[in-house]
Amino acid sequence: MESNTDVAPARTPGLAAKNGTHNYHHSHLQPHHHHHDTLPFTAILIIVIPVIITILLLSILLIIVMLRRLKPQKTDRSTNTGISNSNRMFIAHSTINFNSSPAEVKGGCLYGGSSGRLPATKFRGVQVFTYKELEVATDKFSQKNVIGDGGFGVVYRGVLRDGSMAAIKMLNREGKQGERAFRLEVDLLSRLQSTYLVELLGYCADQHHRLLIFEFMPNGTLQQHLHPHPNQSRPLSWGIRLRIAFDCARAFEFLHEHTAPSVIHRDFKSSNVLLDQNFRAKVTDLGLAKIGSDKINGQISTRVLGTTGYLAPEYASTGKLTTKSDVYSYGVVLLELLTGRVPVDTKRPPGEHVLVAWALPRLTNRDKVVEMVDPALQGHYSKKDLIQVAAIAAMCVQTEADYRPLMTDVVQSLVPLVKNLSSLCPSTSFRFSQKVSPRC
Ligand SMILES: Nc1ncnc2c1ncn2[C@@H]1O[C@H](COP(=O)(O)OP(=O)(O)OP(=O)(O)O)[C@@H](O)[C@H]1O
Ligand SMILES: [Mg+2]
Repeated sequence: MESNTDVAPARTPGLAAKNGTHNYHHSHLQPHHHHHDTLPFTAILIIVIPVIITILLLSILLIIVMLRRLKPQKTDRSTNTGISNSNRMFIAHSTINFNSSPAEVKGGCLYGGSSGRLPATKFRGVQVFTYKELEVATDKFSQKNVIGDGGFGVVYRGVLRDGSMAAIKMLNREGKQGERAFRLEVDLLSRLQSTYLVELLGYCADQHHRLLIFEFMPNGTLQQHLHPHPNQSRPLSWGIRLRIAFDCARAFEFLHEHTAPSVIHRDFKSSNVLLDQNFRAKVTDLGLAKIGSDKINGQISTRVLGTTGYLAPEYASTGKLTTKSDVYSYGVVLLELLTGRVPVDTKRPPGEHVLVAWALPRLTNRDKVVEMVDPALQGHYSKKDLIQVAAIAAMCVQTEADYRPLMTDVVQSLVPLVKNLSSLCPSTSFRFSQKVSPRC
């Protein structure tokens, strides 16, 4: 210990000076004294000037970079004059690049042409409405125009100024969650356009009001047709069911595989499948969706949201979300189409409460599959197709997420089945024929 403290000053002159051993070195440093007197001035010239120049250059560079970044923000602001401050923030952070083509205005200008008025403001091809305009469309949100009430809020039927019908969803959820769902739907649907997704015609973010305006789907939800109140509607035919299964598979093929980064719906269920006048299906409600860019190794850890009976087991238990969670939910809807049963029904006998648990061991047994078929079909279906659909459903709802198929594979397996329907019924009548017999 002692030797260390003795030796250290001699080896480290700087420390020695501080420790009062300055005299020991003084004589050695004498010849340099003159040199030390002139060094500070030269050092100032050699060191300080380049430092100042470097700082100046860096500042100029920084200003150039900042000016370049400011440019696109200016453009956004000027093109979106009708959008509130909060929406401007929304645009700024929406930087995901989707593969799909840029927003095309499929709905066209809702207020254009004959009215003689200037078209209303648009955001990426989606119409921006004022609250007043929607009051007019819904007769002041009259009770007689209420067509539903879901997790987002009350849904109204409305007639837009060009005479077209729309479904107008009024957000009633307080707080962040509702606002997130609203912004996400506007953001995603103004970028993603597919004939297999219900089209967003516009939105309203007038003061505290938040409303979404969708194309009107005259035949309501798949849930209403599969599980109707007694005597409410005629059952969907086998052909229509196949076509719905195909349309939904195409919607997910688009969201998962034709969109980059992929979009996970997270709340797919029969009430989020809407049917048009020809019973063509479209998927709706992307308010709970997750965008794939958040994911690590293809999987996102997230709070579990969605609907009981449709949630993939790994997502329900651990919150791990992948596109395969949607594949599971799709499989549940396929089982609903096949059996006419709801995903969870506690009124059924023990062992039959949960649709997947009841169906899974039966799906690969040909005789048992026939026993599972929705009695409302009254035997009007193709057994060959039934076995194939049952096999697809079994793959989709299996517990091991990795073994579930990609939606592209599901689409490919359904193509021959729907093609068959089209060739048997060349007109579109198979959509209307409520009883498609095994071979028409
Ligand atoms: N585009 C639309 N066209 C016609 N009717 C619609 C449309 N969107 C919604 N509806 C009607 O409004 C009802 C409520 O829809 P909403 O999506 O708000 O709730 P939900 O699907 O029942 O539940 P969740 O909020 O969990 O999705 C639907 O059941 C349907 O009858
Ligand atoms: Mg819904």
